[in-house]
Amino acid sequence: TRRITVRDIAAAKERGEKWPMLTAYDAMTASVFDEAGIPVMLVGDSAGNCHLGYETTVPVTLDEMTMLSAAVVRGTSRALIVGDLPFGSYQEGPVQALRSATRLVKEAGVQAVKLEGGERSHEQIRLLVESGIPVMAHIGLTPQSVNAMGYRVQGRGEEAAQQLLRDAKAVQDAGAFAVVLELVPAELAAEVTRVLHIPTVGIGAGPETDAQVLVWTDMLGLTGGRVPKFVKQYANLREVMGTAVKAFAEDVVGGTFPLEEHSVH
Ligand code: KIV
Ligand code: NA
Repeated sequence: TRRITVRDIAAAKERGEKWPMLTAYDAMTASVFDEAGIPVMLVGDSAGNCHLGYETTVPVTLDEMTMLSAAVVRGTSRALIVGDLPFGSYQEGPVQALRSATRLVKEAGVQAVKLEGGERSHEQIRLLVESGIPVMAHIGLTPQSVNAMGYRVQGRGEEAAQQLLRDAKAVQDAGAFAVVLELVPAELAAEVTRVLHIPTVGIGAGPETDAQVLVWTDMLGLTGGRVPKFVKQYANLREVMGTAVKAFAEDVVGGTFPLEEHSVH
C-alpha cells in the first residue's frame, strides 16, 4: 500500500467525493485511525490544548510539532499526514516558513504542512509550494490569533464575507492544495466551496464543504468540559477510561488484582 497523495485529494474533488480528516498527536491513536481508513490526518497545533496541557495553541513550539508529527508518521502507512506550523514559525516571512516546513518534512516525514492566514500568508504558501512542499491553508477562525480575534464566528456580514472569499482565492492562487474553513457560516462555506477548484475542509462550517475535520479528542469524548456546538461526539472515552481506571484502583486496594491467573511462578 502507498500513502494517499495530494493528487488523490484533487481527484476526489473532481469526482465530487467527500472525505474525512481527523487530528492525531501520537503513533498509537494515529494507527487506529489509519486502520479505520481515515485518508488524511492533521498533526494539529491543537495538540497544545488537547495533548500538551496548554491553554491555547499559541505556546506550541516547532520542536514539539516535529516530535508529535514524527510519531504520527511512524504510526501510519496509508494516510496523508499534514503537519501544522505553530505560531511564530512562519509569520516572519516566506524564508522562515520554508525553514520551518522543511524541518517537518525532513525530520518528521510529513507529506504536507498547514499554516493559518489567507491573503496575509500567501507569500509563505507560494514559496513552500514552489519548493515542493504541499500546503493546506486555514482561514476563518485562526486560533493562533486568539489574542487579536478571540474565538468568534468569522465571515458574518457582507464585508467579512467578501474578505473570506478574497482569502480563499488568495490561498488557491498561491498554490495551496486545500483550505480549512473554521467556524464560518454554512452558506458562506458553501459559496467558497463552489467558487474554488481546491477542496475545502470544514470545521464548524456546515455540510457543504468537500471534507470535514474534527479534533479527535473532541469527537471521541476525551476532552474534559464543554466541546463546541459543531462537534458531534461519537464516543465517550473519558467515561470509558475513568470507569476502567477506577475499577483497577478498587481491585488493587481490595486485593482482587492481581489474581493467580496474572501471576508467574
Ligand atoms: O490544530 C488543529 O486541530 C486544526 C484543525 C482544527 C483544523 O488546525
Ligand atoms: Na491548528
